[in-house]
Amino acid sequence: MSNIESVLHENRVFEPSAEFVKQANISGMSAYKALCEEADQDYEAFWARLARDNLLWHKPFDKTLDESNPPFFKWFHDGELNASYNCLDRHLNTQPNKVAIIFEADDGTVTRITYKQLYHRVCQFANGLKSLGIKPGDRVVIYMPMSIEAVAAMQACARIGATHSVVFGGFSAKSLQDRIGDAGAVAVLTADGQMRGGKEIPLKPVVDEAIAMGGCDSVKHMVVYKRTGSNIKMQDERDVWLSDLVQNQLDVCEPVWVNAEHPLFILYTSGSTGKPKGVQHSTAGYLLHAILTMKWTFDFKGSDVFWCTADVGWVTGHTYIAYGPLAVGATQVVFEGVPTYPKPDRFWKLINEFGVTVFYTAPTAIRSLIKLGADLPKNYDLSSLRLLGTVGEPINPEAWIWYYETVGGKRCPIVDTWWQTETGGHLITPLPGAIPMKPGSCTMPLPGIMCDVVDETGESVEKGSGGILVIKKPWPAMIRTIWGDPERFKKTYYPEDFQGKYYLAGDGASRDLDGYFWIMGRIDDVLNVSGHRLGTMEIESALVAHDLVAEAAVVGRPHDVKGEAVIAFVVLKGDRPTGEESKEIAKTLRDWVGKDIGAIAKPEEIRFGDNLPKTRSGKIMRRLLRAIAKGEEITQDVSTLENPQILDQLKETV
Ligand code: WT7
Repeated sequence: MSNIESVLHENRVFEPSAEFVKQANISGMSAYKALCEEADQDYEAFWARLARDNLLWHKPFDKTLDESNPPFFKWFHDGELNASYNCLDRHLNTQPNKVAIIFEADDGTVTRITYKQLYHRVCQFANGLKSLGIKPGDRVVIYMPMSIEAVAAMQACARIGATHSVVFGGFSAKSLQDRIGDAGAVAVLTADGQMRGGKEIPLKPVVDEAIAMGGCDSVKHMVVYKRTGSNIKMQDERDVWLSDLVQNQLDVCEPVWVNAEHPLFILYTSGSTGKPKGVQHSTAGYLLHAILTMKWTFDFKGSDVFWCTADVGWVTGHTYIAYGPLAVGATQVVFEGVPTYPKPDRFWKLINEFGVTVFYTAPTAIRSLIKLGADLPKNYDLSSLRLLGTVGEPINPEAWIWYYETVGGKRCPIVDTWWQTETGGHLITPLPGAIPMKPGSCTMPLPGIMCDVVDETGESVEKGSGGILVIKKPWPAMIRTIWGDPERFKKTYYPEDFQGKYYLAGDGASRDLDGYFWIMGRIDDVLNVSGHRLGTMEIESALVAHDLVAEAAVVGRPHDVKGEAVIAFVVLKGDRPTGEESKEIAKTLRDWVGKDIGAIAKPEEIRFGDNLPKTRSGKIMRRLLRAIAKGEEITQDVSTLENPQILDQLKETV
């Protein structure tokens, strides 16, 4: 990240206002410390108390943590519950008519649904899935637009004990095929299309294409939600419209009680090898963390209007749209569109319109909105806001200050939440009524989360220096395994380097003299583009799969809006192209990557060489490539290179 330097020199401290502290769920540093101490004194008792206080159990648990087969930890594993029951049924007596979701479509159409209505909608959906023969433990892929139906689809799966795997609507047919095949999904829930920024984007045709690629024989059913009304082909035996499926279903559905460890969902994310990992989450531990962080990080109050701008295709949309807000009984905004359509004031307009009180978005969105209209928030009444949040990457102090002043009116604390698909929910974040903020730092671990910064040998580094971010004890919401690949789970997250004892987050971090954590970015071959994780190997594999390409190497380059941009160095099978030809081939390859993975993976820039810089043993010198991509002077010794002229070639942009 370009801003690491400035981040580390940032030492302004922002205290939450006395007013905020007074009303906060965790009020003041002493309250935070008391919880940390409770966890220190009896770790299991701490989590057991929280799990009893926050979840509704069908069968209460006795055993809190099972560490008998590390790193395959189990939490509350003799208990039984249902996630959908915990999100919906629990509100039926207390607040049936409270609005659960305010949905705003791309074109501005608003739909509100109450808890009672959502409950019935989910029950009908669940009964529909049951009528197709979908059973507990079956995997169901969801490839849907942001909608009430997408949330209902996830909840319906949870209700019948089916494990959902949501695939972001921007992913290609090929990516979808990989995920369907890996999960062995029996059904795909999708829509005819989706609307984004006034444009219609097909979904069902992409699923058809994915299935036609082969390897998806497990899929017996496709349920299609009619969103755009566009003309699509339905396959008689396999496909059914959602409206037909639910039409004659009862609007009540007894939840299937599952074990605490039952896989609630699988969510694929990129790693340092080519193949995405199916991160498997539990039911109880995961949901507990979703609830706790709604209360702790987001200081949730019944009167809040909560808005998380993520897509349900990412983990943020799972924990802070589909589960967390519902479990605590929040009113939340769900938005189909994009922040820049029809104008780059859409976010501010919506906050104003719905009286949003807690707003959660990504630094990349903030940076692009500053660029497109730093003064636009001033045209709207944003006084309903009381708390702001960010997620996905470090936020640069300039963007933080703008967010704080222009959006939050200097009144709203900002929670910079560090977490990952694998962690289930926030792990390091300010508690807004307790921990003073420093722009660019995610501050302190949550109570009960044992984070540390260590060196290669696993020794804690001194305060004030950098190292590797690890988590020293298992926590309830952690990843349980990689679907179908427990060995990879072990190797990736509990490597031998630390005797298999610490969870390795894959991020570098430093801790300052006050004990604040500063995230420095990934230490593996993973890029963070607009807050989305992309494996360099994945993009390289896509490139070399093209007929023209002999070899490819992908690196990240700091980008002022996206955080990081994808830069690809390519060696063709034929001659190195120049001039117009290089432009054409670069475009072909960019489109190819978009088609293979999804638009987010398209390289920003492609450069061609006769070769790549390699060591004698044939290893690509990525550090050199990163320097070249940034336009830096090469100061390293390059005498070991076979062919130093290629460095000059690679400096040339297309
Ligand atoms: C990676 C996880 C967690 C939901 C969104 C991304 C980076 C995430 C922060 C933050 C600095 C952050 C890390 C992490 N990251 N939040 N507040 N400050 N870096 O989930 O795709 O699983 O990516 O995103 O590098 O490892 P993900």
